[in-house]
Amino acid sequence: MLAFESSCDETSVAVVKDGRVLSNAVSSQVRLHSEYGGVVPELAAREHLKNLLPMARLALANAAVTVGQLNAIAATRGPGLPSALMAGLKAAQAAAYVLRKPFLGIHHHEAHLYSPWIEGNPPAADFRAFEPNVSLIVSGGHTILIHVGAELKHRLLGSTLDDAAGECFDKTGKMLGLPYPAGPHIDRLAEQGNPRAFDLPRPMLDDANDDFSFSGLKTSVRYLLRDNPELREDTARIRDLCASIQAAIVEVLVTKTVRAARRLGVGLLTASGGVTCNRALRRELGAACERKGLRLRLAQPEFCTDNAAMIGILAERKLMAGVREQGEADIEPGWALG
Ligand code: KG4
Ligand code: ZN
Repeated sequence: MLAFESSCDETSVAVVKDGRVLSNAVSSQVRLHSEYGGVVPELAAREHLKNLLPMARLALANAAVTVGQLNAIAATRGPGLPSALMAGLKAAQAAAYVLRKPFLGIHHHEAHLYSPWIEGNPPAADFRAFEPNVSLIVSGGHTILIHVGAELKHRLLGSTLDDAAGECFDKTGKMLGLPYPAGPHIDRLAEQGNPRAFDLPRPMLDDANDDFSFSGLKTSVRYLLRDNPELREDTARIRDLCASIQAAIVEVLVTKTVRAARRLGVGLLTASGGVTCNRALRRELGAACERKGLRLRLAQPEFCTDNAAMIGILAERKLMAGVREQGEADIEPGWALG
């Protein structure tokens, strides 16, 4: 399976065989967009066009697979930036057409659900161990909680009503003068800060639903900095503020995810998406699962951020389950998860 991912700012092509990731080539555009403080869609699309073929060549070379050995092609159909999606999807469909192989259009978030199952070296997805789970997808664009009742069967539980958790990291970090994306910088600074130094809100923590909201937290930080401008000059206080912001985001994510799992009687939590690289989130999810007797599967950092390996892993499962698609399937930028 040759898989393509181009929904946002990573151009990725992977080769997957029988649940094993033979290669996962990723070209990140983070540096390019950091100058603008966020992803610029038009630039993203152009970068995808430039990088798709080199990434495809690299993925095939790293996997030691020739074009003639491919059995199927997959690509992300949505959700994502329209012009970015189009670049990867059309390249993949052209390849499928020329090679006369089946094409599968994959839902980006559905693929994230299976990235925590990719482990080991060489990486492989261990579906023999599969069990129903509650899955948290938490990135710069999304914060979603999903009940995965069985393989290829899932139900959306809740999502953010405004900003995504990663966006909250990035925007509060920007207020502190940190480079984009600020999440990893906050993670680093927070390690030496006091998470109880600032009393920040935990939005929707006690609401009886599985939705999230992070814009209020962002506004609180804005007012805090407006009313205490001297804070910006104090390195120790900045570290404390980073730790406090991180603690607020992590507490909401962990509490609501664990609560959903317990309510549904599910014994396993999984998590993926860029914010799952956050060390405090990984630690706190681990501690909460231990306290509540739940098992935890976190995507490996390499597969937390956007990658084509997860697209290929899911596409292969779908193909094995008999899913077939018309080769001309279009992009679905606003594709909602069922
Ligand atoms: O999955 P991802 O690469 O794709 C997008 O949604 O773009 O996620 C990127 C997000 C950014 O918001 C970034 O700040 C955040 O993940 N992120 C982190 C960490 N590493 C990446 N947030 C907090 N701590 C981290 N260590
Ligand atoms: Zn993603």
